[in-house]
Amino acid sequence: MLVRLALSILPLVGTALSQAGGPYTDPDNGITFWGYTEPVHGVTYGYVFPPLGGTEFIGEIVAPIATKWAGAVPGGNMLQNLLLVAWPNGNSIVRSARIATDYLQPTAMSGPVLTDLPSTKVNSTHWKWVYRCQNCISWSTPTGTKSIPVDAFGVPAWAWSSVAVDSPSNPQSTFLEHNDFGFFGLDYAAAHVSASLYNNWAAGGTGGGTITPTTTSTSTTSQPPVTATPYDYIVVGSGPGGLVTADRLSEAGKKVLLLERGGPSTWETGGRYGPEWTNGKNLTKFDVPGLFESMFSDGNPFWWCKDVNVFAGCLMGGGTSINGALYWISPYSDFAPTTGWPVSWGNHAPYTAKMKARLPSTDAPSTDGKRYLMQSFDVAAALLKGQGYTQRTINDEPDSKDHSYGYSAYNFQGGMRAGPVATYFRTAKARKNFTYKQYVYVQNVVRNGPAITGVKTNDTSLGPNGIIPLTAKGRVVLSAGAFGSPRILFRSGIGPTDMINVVKNNAEAAPNLPPQAQWINLPVGYNVSDNPSINLVFTHPSIDAYDNWAPIWTNPRSADASQYLKNRSGVFAQGSPRLNFWRAYSGSDGKTRWMQGTVRPGAASVTTSYPYNASQIFTITVYLSTGITSRGRIGIDAAMTARPLIGPWFTDPIDKAVLIQGINDLISNIKSVSGLTLITPDNKTTITNYVNNYDPGSLNSNHWVGSNTIGVAGKAVVDENAKVFNTNNLFVVDASIIPQMPMSNPHGMIMSMAEQAVTKILALSGGP
Ligand SMILES: Cc1cc2nc3c(=O)[nH]c(=O)nc-3n(C[C@H](O)[C@H](O)[C@H](O)COP(=O)(O)OP(=O)(O)OC[C@H]3O[C@@H](n4cnc5c(N)ncnc54)[C@H](O)[C@@H]3O)c2cc1C
Ligand SMILES: *[C@@H]1O[C@H](CO)[C@@H](O)[C@H](O)[C@H]1NC(C)=O
Ligand SMILES: *[C@@H]1O[C@H](CO)[C@@H](O)[C@H](O)[C@H]1NC(C)=O
Ligand SMILES: *[C@@H]1O[C@H](CO)[C@@H](O)[C@H](O)[C@H]1NC(C)=O
Ligand SMILES: *[C@@H]1O[C@H](CO)[C@@H](O)[C@H](O)[C@H]1NC(C)=O
Ligand SMILES: *[C@@H]1O[C@H](CO)[C@@H](O)[C@H](O)[C@H]1NC(C)=O
Ligand SMILES: *[C@@H]1O[C@H](CO)[C@@H](O)[C@H](O)[C@H]1NC(C)=O
Ligand SMILES: *[C@@H]1O[C@H](CO)[C@@H](O)[C@H](O)[C@H]1NC(C)=O
Ligand SMILES: *[C@@H]1O[C@H](CO)[C@@H](O)[C@H](O)[C@H]1NC(C)=O
Repeated sequence: MLVRLALSILPLVGTALSQAGGPYTDPDNGITFWGYTEPVHGVTYGYVFPPLGGTEFIGEIVAPIATKWAGAVPGGNMLQNLLLVAWPNGNSIVRSARIATDYLQPTAMSGPVLTDLPSTKVNSTHWKWVYRCQNCISWSTPTGTKSIPVDAFGVPAWAWSSVAVDSPSNPQSTFLEHNDFGFFGLDYAAAHVSASLYNNWAAGGTGGGTITPTTTSTSTTSQPPVTATPYDYIVVGSGPGGLVTADRLSEAGKKVLLLERGGPSTWETGGRYGPEWTNGKNLTKFDVPGLFESMFSDGNPFWWCKDVNVFAGCLMGGGTSINGALYWISPYSDFAPTTGWPVSWGNHAPYTAKMKARLPSTDAPSTDGKRYLMQSFDVAAALLKGQGYTQRTINDEPDSKDHSYGYSAYNFQGGMRAGPVATYFRTAKARKNFTYKQYVYVQNVVRNGPAITGVKTNDTSLGPNGIIPLTAKGRVVLSAGAFGSPRILFRSGIGPTDMINVVKNNAEAAPNLPPQAQWINLPVGYNVSDNPSINLVFTHPSIDAYDNWAPIWTNPRSADASQYLKNRSGVFAQGSPRLNFWRAYSGSDGKTRWMQGTVRPGAASVTTSYPYNASQIFTITVYLSTGITSRGRIGIDAAMTARPLIGPWFTDPIDKAVLIQGINDLISNIKSVSGLTLITPDNKTTITNYVNNYDPGSLNSNHWVGSNTIGVAGKAVVDENAKVFNTNNLFVVDASIIPQMPMSNPHGMIMSMAEQAVTKILALSGGP
């Protein structure tokens, strides 16, 4: 059997989370566990430890039968950590201890000794695994010893799937990546019992436990009274939408507060996280373009939003600090009324020009003007030329996309990631009337019917109960991203009733909801889109796969590292893509859909039944963009995690048919390029079967738009001024208002959109 790769496992490290577990006694076995029942799937994960100094623990997973497998990671972060995975097989439980050393399938872990305890069972509604795990507290990894923090507060992780493992009777069975995962806080320091009690349970005994819940001193200690500063504009979120907006509002003389839940990114913003090889050079992971691929293979990925179930950046710059930095100037169609934009948005040119003036693009980012590692460009160009494509400087001719290819264009400057952080944020923060606060989480807007009076944050030093007020005519702009802004709306009583009811059932969020009579019913979360994308992997003898980017963090090629450190030139001055291409297709419904391709050395995964040379692999990712008709829905679950509720890919079969056509065309002349071989899919799999069997989650391009779509009352969430319908002074400016996939990777389009939106907001009467 082929090992399937679990590439999008989000290896999240924990911080203190709102969902904290506590003690409970399992009636089946009388064992007192410290644990948590995760509310979405209803699975309980429990742990109990002997006195400090022990090397083992007892744990359990109790899961409703819909759970095809579940995993518990007491150490939290999924990389290099003990993972206990179990599933039912008939009336018995099959389980194993695994370890994930990278983003591949977690493999057997040697060391831990597992013993099933007698209350392990499968019944008609649940399965339950109660186990003793010996030699399970510490283990060695390539980077040193890792341990469960038994004397401290921990953030254990869980993983869950509704898809059965490949061979249920085999404890080491492979499985598809989990459908869901999460974390909860647990005070391991409290989760210990006496040696005698523990030993009794470990030997299969029951009962005897008495819970003395550690008085979590929810000290309502009298803090000094907090006074809050009111602002003209409060902008929530420092992604491309928020940074452009906050900069232009402060430039216009408004008193602006920008709030960001995450911390710094680039060195300039206070970030300090970088590889050893850049020590002393004032460079972070977020500065060095060539470190992009390490975003997905890092053991400490603090930058991903922990309560969004797809990749989303939660730090200064939002997605632009962690993305591939492909940066494209919009064609007319990106804002055309035919793609859902109000007619008043049709002339994007002046706004795109303003953006280009602040942030030009480059397709030769190395400071010496040379291009490096270009073999995949040459091979793909040969393939495309045979199909009638023409090479262009893409951003010089944004409206000439059909059958065009060119060098990948980026938002880099001086060989470093630039984007809105090194431009718009730089100018904003120099202004006296601009205030930036990081690590501030906005929970909801505070409103009285249609009138927004402020925002509620988790930072009680900024205002009473964390509430920051607006000035008399002040306004709030949500720029928290395609998942973040809808969640804030739901928690403010704005959106479909089913989502607001989820908030109402959440003990922490419910008290901040306005009364039901003030709920505002809008289609928040509906009609979202994202580019469906399919990876094709090839080999060609000319390719340097750059060791599939694996050593770039710890052990880069030394000549390339020193060239970058000295001169900001060479391979590390560029991201991983080398070439992009576009082609228009007419579907059987008469609609035009656009295909985009991105070519890069290396591959995220390879599935083939033939041998191949891993040093020669490169990937063409093929997406469908403007014109797609498939739509999905996003929302929140009981734990307030934002997630896709209905995947937006291929809900219309014509989208799929067009992409299959596009891929077949792309490889139609492969034999004309000597030495070029398609290895994923290999020649035993047709393109149609490959696309039909593609893991739906892997179709995600992280280009989500449309969850607060712009348009007309009754069908949309915001009006043509980006104002939320039925409110006086609440606006949204981020990817969520975009009604249709733009032509290309979206952040350039988002910044042009924000330039236009903020102009309209400033022009709209009634504001500060
Ligand atoms: C892995 C990856 C690769 C990508 N590659 C590319 C690429 O190469 N080119 C391209 O153009 N696009 C790419 N994208 C997409 C692009 O980054 C996004 O479309 C873009 O960043 C969206 O901008 P935004 O302003 O809507 O939101 P975001 O960039 O998501 O910013 C939202 C900000 O709001 C903050 N926030 C959220 N909720 C709250 C809250 N409650 N309180 C306070 N702050 C909050 C977040 O921390 C974040 O900083 C990629 C995305 C990902 C994830
Ligand atoms: C099955 O076991 C679970 C967990 O112990 C229990 O909650 C549930 O009531 C049991 N179901 C039946 C039908 O006995
Ligand atoms: C805000 O800053 C701008 C630019 O520095 C300045 O022109 C304006 O007077 C300032 N406004 C206030 C209210 O401080
Ligand atoms: C790094 O930044 C510090 C200040 O933060 C500065 O003193 C130092 O000179 C900088 N070093 C380099 C190599 O730029
Ligand atoms: C608020 O939330 C952010 C993001 O989760 C976190 O980093 C910060 O520490 C929190 N602040 C407080 C005061 O709890
Ligand atoms: C840096 O650039 C200079 C000038 O082009 C060149 O002489 C030197 O060799 C480069 N250094 C490295 C390490 O590449
Ligand atoms: C694999 O490719 C590399 C890089 O092109 C080459 O050096 C090596 O000889 C190849 N190995 C085999 C077995 O062909
Ligand atoms: C399929 O590919 C393999 C490996 O490249 C090759 O050996 C085989 O001949 C191919 N089969 C066909 C039918 O093309
Ligand atoms: C969703 O989009 C469809 C067209 O694709 C449109 O008919 C419908 O009104 C939209 N629904 C909402 C809630 O915006």
